[in-house]
Amino acid sequence: MKILICGGGNGAHCFTALASACPNVEVNVLTVYEDEAKTWTTALKSDELTVSISKPDGSVTETRSKPSLVTNDIKVAVAGVQIIFIVVPSYVHHIYFSLLALHIQPNTLIVGLPGHAGFELQCLDMLGNKSSNHAIVGFESLPWACRIIEYGKRVQLLGYKDILHASFLVGTNCNLQFPAIETIQSILGSKPRIKVVSNVFAITLMTGSIIHPPIMYGKWKNWDKTPLPVKPLFYQGVDEEQASIASKLSDEVVKTAKQIQDACPDLDMSQVVHLSDWFKSHYHDEIGDNSSLMTSMRTNSAYEGLVHPMKAVENRYVPDFEYRYTTEDVPFGLVVMKGLAVIAGVATPTMDKIIQWAQSIMGKEFIIGTDLVGKDVKFSRAPQSFGLNTLEQVQDYIKSRIR
Ligand code: NAI
Repeated sequence: MKILICGGGNGAHCFTALASACPNVEVNVLTVYEDEAKTWTTALKSDELTVSISKPDGSVTETRSKPSLVTNDIKVAVAGVQIIFIVVPSYVHHIYFSLLALHIQPNTLIVGLPGHAGFELQCLDMLGNKSSNHAIVGFESLPWACRIIEYGKRVQLLGYKDILHASFLVGTNCNLQFPAIETIQSILGSKPRIKVVSNVFAITLMTGSIIHPPIMYGKWKNWDKTPLPVKPLFYQGVDEEQASIASKLSDEVVKTAKQIQDACPDLDMSQVVHLSDWFKSHYHDEIGDNSSLMTSMRTNSAYEGLVHPMKAVENRYVPDFEYRYTTEDVPFGLVVMKGLAVIAGVATPTMDKIIQWAQSIMGKEFIIGTDLVGKDVKFSRAPQSFGLNTLEQVQDYIKSRIR
C-alpha cells in the first residue's frame, strides 16, 4: 500500500511516524510549504522520525521510522498512491483539493484526517465531475492529541481516542481495489476503532468542532484585556460556566440531528450524541472522573497540560484569537452546524452567542442577529455556501456523484 500524507504540522508528523512504521506501507509526504519540505527532508537525512507515545498509566514508548520522501512537488507526491490523507487544519483543505483536482488518478481514496464539518461537500464541490471517480472518508477528529517537539525529528503523541467516527462515500464511477475502512484501520492500529457514520448530515454534527469555541467564549467573553502572568490550562481549567455553555451548545446540535431524523426517517442520526456521552465513548480509558461534562474534560489524561492559545507580550500573555480554536472551529464547525440548524428549522441561541462573539474577534460576519446571512458565509462550509438550502437539495447534490 502506498499512501500520501498531506501536511507538515503536528498531525502530519504523528501520522507519518505511525504509518511509516507499518510493514508494507510506503509513505510519501506533501507539504505545499517549501521550507517545511526542505527542513523535514534535511532532518531525515541524519535520523529517523521518532514518535513518543504517552500511555494513560504514565508510561512512554517510542517508535522510530522514516517516510519514503517529503516534498512540495504534487506530481512526485501522488505518483502511484492509493490513499491520500489530508492532515491539515480545514482552512487549508481548499489548497490541497485544488491540487488534487488536477493531479490524482481515478480510484484513489481521499481521507480527511480530520475532515471537520463540510469536508465532504467541499471535496465534491472542488473536485467537480471528477469526484465520482473517487471515494471520500471524513473523520470527525484527529485520532490523537499530538504536538511536534522538534520539526521533522520528534513528535509527542499525548493520547489516543478510543473510537472515531467517519463518513464513507464512494463515487458512482469509483472502483476501489482494497477495503477502505479496514485498510485505514490497519494503518492506524487498534486505536481508535473506526465507526462508519451512515450519512453526511450526522458526521457534520459530530462534536469535534464544538469543544473549543464554548470554552474560548466562556473564558474570554468578559476579558478586560489585562495580560496574564501564566498561560491558563485549557481543559483542566474548565469551570462550571464553560462546561454549561458547551452542554447547551451540544443540546442544540443534538436537537438539530433529531429534527433532521424526523424530517427524513431514512437517515440514521442516532450517532449524534451529547458531548458528555461523546467524551465517555471517545476517551473511556483516559478520563479519571466522568461524573459530569466539566470533570470529563478536567480529568482527561490525553489533555494534560494543554493550555489556552496565548501570545507573549512583555513577559505576560494575551489570548491568541487567530488560533484554530476560533479561526477553524467556527467557520468549519459551528457555522456549518448553524447552516444545518437553519435548514432543519432549529433555533440555536447558545450557538448564535458564540458565533457572534467569535466573528467579532475574528473581524468576520457569518450571522446577523440570528440569521445566517453575513457576508462571510461564502467562506465557510455551510451548505448554503454551496447553494444548498434544503435537506433535499443537500441529499440530491450528494446522490448525483455518490453511490
Ligand atoms: P497544525 O496547526 O500543526 O498544522 C499546521 C500545518 O498545516 C502547517 O505546518 C502546514 O503544513 C499546514 N498549513 C497551515 N496553514 C497553511 C497555509 N496557509 N497553506 C498551506 N499549508 C498550511 O495542525 P495539526 O495540529 O496537525 O491539526 C490538524 C487538524 O487536526 C486540525 O484540523 C486540528 O484542528 C485537528 N486536531 C488536532 C489535534 C492535535 O492534537 N494536534 C487534536 C484534535 C484535532
